Amino acid sequence: MLPSARPLVTAAAVLCFCFGSVLLVEGMVHNHTWDISYQYKSPDCFEKLAVTVNGEAPGPTIHATQGDTIVVTVNNKLETENTAIHWHGIRQIDTPWADGVGGVTQCPILPGETFTYTFVVDRAGTYLYHSHYGMQRVAGLNGMIVVTVPGGGREPFTYDEEQTVLLEDWWHKSVYDQATGLSAKPLVFVGEPDSLLINGRGMFNCSKLSTATGTCNNSHPDCALPTLFTVMPGRTYLLRIGSLTSLSSLSFEIEGHWMTVVEADGHYVRPFVVRNLFIYSGETYSVLVKADQDPRRNYWATSHIVGRNPTTPSGKAIVSYTGNDPWKTPPTTPTTGPPWNNTAIRVEQSRTIAAHPGYVVPVPARADRTLLLLNTQNQIEGQTKWTINGVSLHFPATPYLVSMKHDLTAAYDQRPPLDTYDHKGHDISAPAPTNGTIGSPVYRLEFNSVVDVVLQNSNMLNNKSETHPWHLHGHDFWVLGHGDGKFDPASDAWKLMNVKNPIMKNTVPLHPHGWTALRFHANNPGVWLFHCHVEAHVFMGMGVVFEEGVKRVGRLPSSIMGCGLSKGLH
Ligand code: C2O
Ligand code: CU
Repeated sequence: MLPSARPLVTAAAVLCFCFGSVLLVEGMVHNHTWDISYQYKSPDCFEKLAVTVNGEAPGPTIHATQGDTIVVTVNNKLETENTAIHWHGIRQIDTPWADGVGGVTQCPILPGETFTYTFVVDRAGTYLYHSHYGMQRVAGLNGMIVVTVPGGGREPFTYDEEQTVLLEDWWHKSVYDQATGLSAKPLVFVGEPDSLLINGRGMFNCSKLSTATGTCNNSHPDCALPTLFTVMPGRTYLLRIGSLTSLSSLSFEIEGHWMTVVEADGHYVRPFVVRNLFIYSGETYSVLVKADQDPRRNYWATSHIVGRNPTTPSGKAIVSYTGNDPWKTPPTTPTTGPPWNNTAIRVEQSRTIAAHPGYVVPVPARADRTLLLLNTQNQIEGQTKWTINGVSLHFPATPYLVSMKHDLTAAYDQRPPLDTYDHKGHDISAPAPTNGTIGSPVYRLEFNSVVDVVLQNSNMLNNKSETHPWHLHGHDFWVLGHGDGKFDPASDAWKLMNVKNPIMKNTVPLHPHGWTALRFHANNPGVWLFHCHVEAHVFMGMGVVFEEGVKRVGRLPSSIMGCGLSKGLH
């Protein structure tokens, strides 16, 4: 029986007998069919193979209203490569099998196969999607999801129009080349990106290349003109900004214009005004920008690398006031951005972000369990790996969701990973000892419990400390605090945590030499990855897996099975 709702809703409502349980879907259903294929692309003028969605990289922006259902039918036309697509920031409540992580929530989609993702976008905000198979995201399968408030609903701010801004970094070196180097003995790092892209466009100076290096053409239509944002004088714009860089932390700015930050990862923030916005891979921010400058000229919108000594030119787009020649180069030299090594100003922004007073989600008073997760870089059997409390995560052949639901205990490490490291004995400013193991263990969290995680940074083997944006699948977490140095659980540090109005996010930076504390409610049955969003880092093992209430998950769709020990299950 269909629900007796408003005509529009009723017309779009579907009653779906999914896997034995009845799922009543009340919003609109948006169907998308995506062919995933390699294409020759020149996003920064250098021709390269890119993984595309219906021929485009980045892929199309998905638009929906809160409560709607998204159905994406993915046809893997990569010919020689698997794929899986993750909907970043969507919690997948009741649909943990649609999270799109190869090895965790599904078997990868084989070449020639079709896989359908069906999920509800249950909260308005700005989200992302990207490939989650090996390091495939590096090759371009990235995009945005914009979920608007339902009819009659209001946001705690006003604007005239909105635009999306997707930030990426880009290498001329192939994803295979990068992955092979990271696995090599000794390690060959991916290096700095060749370009920064804004909405898929950059401009590499082809004269810097010898012709033998590849095809580079500064008048190629993919790159000849930069991305253009057109504004009308006096109007206010909501820019939905997302970063899907593979490595870089960025600063984004629009010459001469202030930005008021109003949303982060789908949550309204207590508004604050910035000249430049620091944004880490996997984060989204919405900012309000008023077109209040001299309308007779154009302005630069730029992205700059921070946190690593940049050799990559800034990403550049043009903001043009209507009435001007839109392609006229702004009369100014684009800025070089804030000093790349000023960690303090970045920590400062992280600490400024709090929940909007009208939208504070109360934090549980205390946690049932605390995980102190230390990252170290280790040499393991001649390879350079990242470990978390001594274990470098390796995805098993059988997706955890299937093996844990079906008790295929041979499919993953049964030995529980450590809740804490030797925090008294470990010097975070000394490179890691050469121990550590590679494995596939799982943190089994009690269903409905409250979990605190303190991420602890340390020095890498080269004696430097880097920024790691950590992303949690299946949840938002409260960001309790950021600190410098070593976190001591026995100290007063807990008293300094923001339990009054912390922002909820799904991705948060762990700053160099520092710690980040977060809290979440383990109330979403499934198996969820928690990892650094730097592609090279998670590839080198920088992640952990959480299981909660997996036995409560409904019957798993057979489409996620077929690999490893899940052969023959259905
Ligand atoms: Cu956007 Cu597991 O990542
Ligand atoms: Cu990292």
